[in-house]
Amino acid sequence: MTAFSAALNRKELFLRACRGESLPRVPVWMMRQAGRYLPEYRELRARHAFLEVCKEPDLAVEVSLQPFRRLGVDAVIVFSDILIPAEAMGVPLELGDAGPRLLEPVRSADAVRKLRLFDPEAETRFLMEAIRRLVRTAGVDVPVLGFAGAPWTMACYMVEGRSSEGFVTVKSFLYAEPAAFRELLQRIAQATIAYLKAQIAAGAAAVQLFDTWCGELALSEYRDFALPAVHQIIEGVRGKAPVIYYTKASHHLLEALAQTGADVLSVDWRVNLRELRAKVGPGVALQGNLDPAILLASSETIVSATKSILQQLGGQGHVLNLGHGILPNTPVEAAQRFIRTGQEARFPAGVLAP
Ligand code: CP3
Repeated sequence: MTAFSAALNRKELFLRACRGESLPRVPVWMMRQAGRYLPEYRELRARHAFLEVCKEPDLAVEVSLQPFRRLGVDAVIVFSDILIPAEAMGVPLELGDAGPRLLEPVRSADAVRKLRLFDPEAETRFLMEAIRRLVRTAGVDVPVLGFAGAPWTMACYMVEGRSSEGFVTVKSFLYAEPAAFRELLQRIAQATIAYLKAQIAAGAAAVQLFDTWCGELALSEYRDFALPAVHQIIEGVRGKAPVIYYTKASHHLLEALAQTGADVLSVDWRVNLRELRAKVGPGVALQGNLDPAILLASSETIVSATKSILQQLGGQGHVLNLGHGILPNTPVEAAQRFIRTGQEARFPAGVLAP
């Protein structure tokens, strides 16, 4: 078994997990793994603004690799932000300490019509360049992940203009002008297909769609508005690379999530992975789902909670991750403990035939 797990490189391991296969061990990474809990990230951010790090490929590559060097994670997600394409679509963006701000929020059918489709290789070249350099630097054996925001979550920021508590403005738009709102989601989806295809062409082994706020929608609105736009994106990149679809607080949407066609569903800690597998079947791989707050607890708690998640799927079609981004006050040793616990767990059923 050891011989096989050693023979499978990180990229093969990751892609096999995305295909739902049984593996001798599961791949592990963390959402927001490049971030403020790392002293080397804080040090670099003291000298460079957030958007500067996103737009300067050397800096983006450096921070993307920090968690790989420090923790030995099994996948490297390119450093960027889901709001970068909003800016490329024509909505000016600021990302300061108070979180993101979109200076000209999209609140009318007219504003929707003005949103541009953009050429990702021209207007977000820095990201494609960062991916190409990451693949060269980390090596072809390491999966580099691309990503984008899902249309509903993008719309939340583009309409609200900032992180929101109640999502009242975006929901008012949806209910007052459903056709214009659908057009907004549709445009974001179209732009996102080109954006993700460019990332895959640059070398991304898989891509993740972040739908952090879809849990705000009732099932009927999710089906009516958010789901078709996500489905369109997934169909648009089908066959090019696996798509991981991340949702949070989505326990009322689980059956609908499978209808997006995602290769991998990534969920938060509220969902039991074994129950989710029973619901969506073995054809869909699952990613997650340790509560990031557990990384603030004792080492024993981290180990036992991680093992209990691993047992839910027994190493089949599972990418171990957190249920949301790592918290800035997480001790580095706690992150290390989580990664190591995941990587050391063995699943005899996952021994591959020679
Ligand atoms: O996972 C990674 O390491 C890749 C980088 C990444 C960032 N943002 C860097 C970032 C990814 C994948 C994202 C996605 C993202 N961005 C999401 C979806 C996932 C989620 O967390 O829900 C959302 C909603 C955003 C929008 C956004 N960007 C917010 C709300 C904030 C402010 C909150 C915060 O954590 O500070 C950001 C800023 C941001 N994006 C930071 C990082 C590392 C912090 C900026 C800093 O260095 O000060």
